[in-house]
Amino acid sequence: MSQPRTPVFAANWKMCHGPVETGAFVGRFAPRHVRRDDATVVVFPPAISLPAFAAAVSGRPDLEFGVQDVHTEVKGAHTSGIAAAMVPATGATWGLAGHSERRREFGDTDADVGRKLVRLLEAGLRPVLCVGETLEERESGRLETVLHTQIREALRPLDREDRSRLVYAYEPVWAIGTGRTASPDDAAEAHAIVRDRLAQADGCDAEGSVILYGGSVKPANIEALLAASGVDGVLVGGASLDPESWASICAAGG
Ligand code: PGA
Repeated sequence: MSQPRTPVFAANWKMCHGPVETGAFVGRFAPRHVRRDDATVVVFPPAISLPAFAAAVSGRPDLEFGVQDVHTEVKGAHTSGIAAAMVPATGATWGLAGHSERRREFGDTDADVGRKLVRLLEAGLRPVLCVGETLEERESGRLETVLHTQIREALRPLDREDRSRLVYAYEPVWAIGTGRTASPDDAAEAHAIVRDRLAQADGCDAEGSVILYGGSVKPANIEALLAASGVDGVLVGGASLDPESWASICAAGG
């Protein structure tokens, strides 16, 4: 029997909130957010702000945090790269891989994403594998193929035990930062595709896997999205940058 899935509220700050703004954000968010035992809250600040985030949440172990990206290599001559092994010393316990902005702006391939998952797992971090289709892929009827390929290729280098440690985020590219949100039915359909694909993958616990929805999530649509079948939480960009808005999102579904 699979364990019940604990909802996750994840904030992806992208290239926003440097160390100073990070401290100010936590100072405003933490008092507004009542600790929840029924959900996990995790923020992905820019890497340079991880120490500031750690310092600001030092009295709040319920506020978890992670790194937005790591290098595919273990260490070495890779100017600007961040090795996964360097991350735990900051106190971060999570890592994103495969965000569509990494794929689009930095050319991360599915194979790169798989290698990043390996690095994150080696470092003891909890990976969130992000997948999602472009509008053109959706409109040409390739939603299922795209999601299947992204999942299959990213999981390829992982052994059975590692596969059971992943969290997934379905983020339709056309809904990211556009104000255009997938309808709860669209999200439910895509989450079912992701879960079906996990059921076919060796070592994955499809029913126990947490699958987040991301793409223009905000206080006004969070409840409807969380109520959609198979949606176990959210990955939020723009609406997570404001402490009040993020606190209101993190209070949803309770
Ligand atoms: P958005 O970003 O909430 O601003 O659409 C979501 C994401 O990219 O994770």
